[in-house]
Amino acid sequence: MNEPISREAARALLHWYRDMGVDEAVAAVPADFFAFAAPESRPAEPVRPARAQAPAAPATPVFSAEKTVPADEAVRLAEAAARAAETHDALAAAVAAFEACPLRAGARSTVFCDGAPGAPLLVIGEAPGREEDRVGLPFVGRAGQLLDRMLAAIGRSRRTDTLISNVVYWRPPGNREPTHLEVAICRPFVERLIELTAPKAILLAGGAPARALLGVSGIMRARGVWRELELASGARFPALPIFHPAFLLRSPAQKRLAWADLLSLEKRLRNA
Ligand code: URA
Repeated sequence: MNEPISREAARALLHWYRDMGVDEAVAAVPADFFAFAAPESRPAEPVRPARAQAPAAPATPVFSAEKTVPADEAVRLAEAAARAAETHDALAAAVAAFEACPLRAGARSTVFCDGAPGAPLLVIGEAPGREEDRVGLPFVGRAGQLLDRMLAAIGRSRRTDTLISNVVYWRPPGNREPTHLEVAICRPFVERLIELTAPKAILLAGGAPARALLGVSGIMRARGVWRELELASGARFPALPIFHPAFLLRSPAQKRLAWADLLSLEKRLRNA
């Protein structure tokens, strides 16, 4: 039996969890999310993760272990579904219907993209976080609000001329970085989104999308350098890695460099 702890000790423990980056209560004991059964075959008393907050959006179903497919098959399914999508709406529907990404099992929402389809600027981030998972849209938490302010500083907005998405469409558990496999499975959709949007410039927000789409590592050196992002189809698009807005929230002194990158972006868009 655990000894009851004092109010002060409980408060200190909570603060320590917060400082360590814990932002969501899931359960008192570890849970194997892949072991949960699909809704129709759920056991009478399923172990349910206790959420700290009630969901605002309808919960996506929890997918069963039987629905997990081998990685190469998942990539093939994604390629076929992405190729068949002729419009942004069709692509959004294909992503929403796609069940072969293992991240989906632990996420509440599919978070695909937000903004103006066909926009000259496409922003690609890493992965949905807690707020994005709750709302079902990319970059709506604190980092997203900073991203909106960064775009506004160069006269751009997701309401008019910017489309925003990520390299994966489901929140990784505990906000960890998506794995190489998860990124590979979502990649055909990312590439199709780029093809359908045909942007004049792609902004890669953070090290993860820069690594996933350009193969460059080390955002400190990669940021601010324009590169060609080449798709499997052979199409090429100019892409600029920048610091992730979440990093800028933690390291405001780096905003100076981010501002220089935004000016470079604006110049490129103006001259394209
Ligand atoms: N960070 C990301 O990279 N993407 C989001 O959608 C939100 C936060």
